[in-house]
Amino acid sequence: MSIRIKGSGSAIPKRTVTNDELAKIVETTDSWIKERTGIESRHIATGETVKMLASEAAKKAIEDSGIKAADIELIIVATCSGEQALPCMACEVQNSIGAANAVAFDLNAACAGFLFAMNTADAYISQGIYKNALIIGAEILSNIIDWSDRSTCILFGDGAGAVYFEKDDRKLRFIQKSNGFKNEVLSCNQRDSKSAFYEGDSLYKYVTMDGREVFKFATRVVSDTILKLLDDEGLSPDDIDMFLLHQANLRIIECIAKRLGTDISKFPTNVERFGNTSSASIPILIDEVRKQGKLMNGMRVVMSGFGAGLTYSACLMEL
Ligand code: ACO
Repeated sequence: MSIRIKGSGSAIPKRTVTNDELAKIVETTDSWIKERTGIESRHIATGETVKMLASEAAKKAIEDSGIKAADIELIIVATCSGEQALPCMACEVQNSIGAANAVAFDLNAACAGFLFAMNTADAYISQGIYKNALIIGAEILSNIIDWSDRSTCILFGDGAGAVYFEKDDRKLRFIQKSNGFKNEVLSCNQRDSKSAFYEGDSLYKYVTMDGREVFKFATRVVSDTILKLLDDEGLSPDDIDMFLLHQANLRIIECIAKRLGTDISKFPTNVERFGNTSSASIPILIDEVRKQGKLMNGMRVVMSGFGAGLTYSACLMEL
């Protein structure tokens, strides 16, 4: 038993921010950003919230799937930048879309969140606990970025993607891993303690990142994980029609393609237009390639997400 994609949707804030606009805020240039990351622009919230984007993407996925919200049995929102601690974002989405019969909860595995949520849904559905799942990746990363830090603020964007899955018997395999021993490579403190008894220092509340370490991790570990996943199935990268990778950075994707010995044309990208939207990047990409008619029955697709934790995941899906 496994799951298959029935429909998808995405929601992006209206405001586009170009590299030239960022160059007015921090000391950087369009050419530095493009050359190092491939990013040309990103969408940044000017009033939109994670709840709004997640709900809009969910509504579009429901419409695309031709189902009713009441049919949905499981909602998981993958996010690391929700504007509220309680209630969870998935319950907010349940409310917005009227999914009265769903169980809803959030999952935080940073940029690997969507695939971790998909793997979780697959486990539930394979066990016969639920028959379907709406998986959403939604982020307003602009809220947790230090806009005076040029090494991070140029990388990220805001957005949401949603995919509705139903029970199926086509092949679906996952590798899912965490390495909490590298937690300092990419981190973000959520908020200062407001306790009346707190005596510690005030925490820096924004994303900090060792860019070179992230680059090494993403290129080495992700390609090794994909090769292991394929090897376990007796397949090679040549047997794969499309690779849908977390959109962190064009150079990372190019490097992974090279390490896999695969043509870059099999790796659709949108990081140029959206920047790194963390857990939202894979579902936004799925939605784009589906709407372009590029995801067809019979195809073999590999997805891979990787991010803070460190967490990483790869998935082989036969459509
Ligand atoms: N504009 C201009 N110069 C900059 C900028 C900027 N925006 N940011 C840093 N620099 C400078 C640095 O200060 C440094 O200057 P110095 O030599 O005078 O000290 C110089 O550029 C080189 O800095 P590096 O950090 O060595 O630059 P590098 O070539 O490694 O590129 C980058 C940095 C793009 C972050 C790269 O390390 C990378 O792609 N890392 C992966 C990070 C990533 O994708 N993270 C996404 C989040 S995690 C995830 O999604 C998995």
